Amino acid sequence: MHDIVLIPGDGIGPEITKSVTTILDAAGADINWIKCTAGLTAQEELGNPLPDETLDAIKKYRLALKGPLTTPIGAGFRSVNVAMRKKFELHSNIRPAKTLPHIESRFDNVDLVMFRENTEGLYIGKEQWVKENSHAESIAVVTREASEKVIRSAFEYAKKKNRKKVTLIHKANILKFTCGLFMEVGEEIAKDYPEIEYEDLIVDNMAMQMVLQPEQFDVIVTTNLFGDILSDLASGLVGGLGLTGAANVGDDAAMFEAVHGSAPDIAGQNVANPIAFLLSALMMLEHIDENDLADRIRQAVYLTLEDKSVCTPDIGGSGSTTAFTEAVVKNLNK
Ligand code: NAI
Ligand code: MG
Repeated sequence: MHDIVLIPGDGIGPEITKSVTTILDAAGADINWIKCTAGLTAQEELGNPLPDETLDAIKKYRLALKGPLTTPIGAGFRSVNVAMRKKFELHSNIRPAKTLPHIESRFDNVDLVMFRENTEGLYIGKEQWVKENSHAESIAVVTREASEKVIRSAFEYAKKKNRKKVTLIHKANILKFTCGLFMEVGEEIAKDYPEIEYEDLIVDNMAMQMVLQPEQFDVIVTTNLFGDILSDLASGLVGGLGLTGAANVGDDAAMFEAVHGSAPDIAGQNVANPIAFLLSALMMLEHIDENDLADRIRQAVYLTLEDKSVCTPDIGGSGSTTAFTEAVVKNLNK
């Protein structure tokens, strides 16, 4: 039995969480869910977006499946997602984007995995007014230690999964110290993996290359902000945010979540696509070595994608969150 912290989250979070736990339970996953709260829901119920009980549970069990959390823009609390990644030293945010069967998109053969540095860069929250309302500044931090962790994770993943190439993304021509350091570490680590091809690309060129010819990429590693943006782009290449899962992995803890946010525009309407969150849960199953179970659920999802009458509207279906969930459960035994 695996003890796993479950945070349903905000907006569409509870709907997609219900879908995912229903499918995992139906597949016979041996999981004891420790239900916790965070984000806007926790702020409204308990006056704290990141309650101690939630932090203590993650500290104890070291594994969490987390729904999307709303972060207010501008005033209000700071991102709970960013705080949790930092607190549990979840240094690598791993975001695969793979062409799925029966999903319409402009490319047929995208299969890339983005590794995003998850604890520093421009996301450390060191912002200040130089002059109120007219001059603001923000600090980016890049350390050798964090860069090594995420870059080595990317190479180790490539090695383990038999992938051929690692592409490091930077802007070292302009950000000579921060991106320069990240790139230097990449070059050093690449030497330890002579069997894996290594290249680096400047981020703006990368954005164009990904849109023109995404099939050329395999494993990608980059700093926090670039990874955030490029991984949404990668989701778009394979059919949208409803289809890509993610893992936040550290040396001794991991938290799994979808790439997308809480989608307040469609919350409560039973139209949220649960696939992204389900794929995150499958990454979690693989993380705890439940590979056969993950494969079985993945096959059921692929089979279900054929029937557009049960798929959600974002992928051209006329179904709903619950209709899709029921269909996957039925397909588990085919
Ligand atoms: P979003 O990802 O929530 O939504 C962007 C667009 O994609 C919306 O039109 C939404 O309806 C659609 N969409 C997203 N997920 C979908 C799904 N599963 N099925 C169907 N359509 C889906 O991004 P947005 O609107 O920028 O952010 C909303 C809130 O989510 C913000 O408060 C933001 O801070 C938070 N957020 C949280 C994340 C997390 O918890 N890891 C990640 C990204 C955003
Ligand atoms: Mg994002």
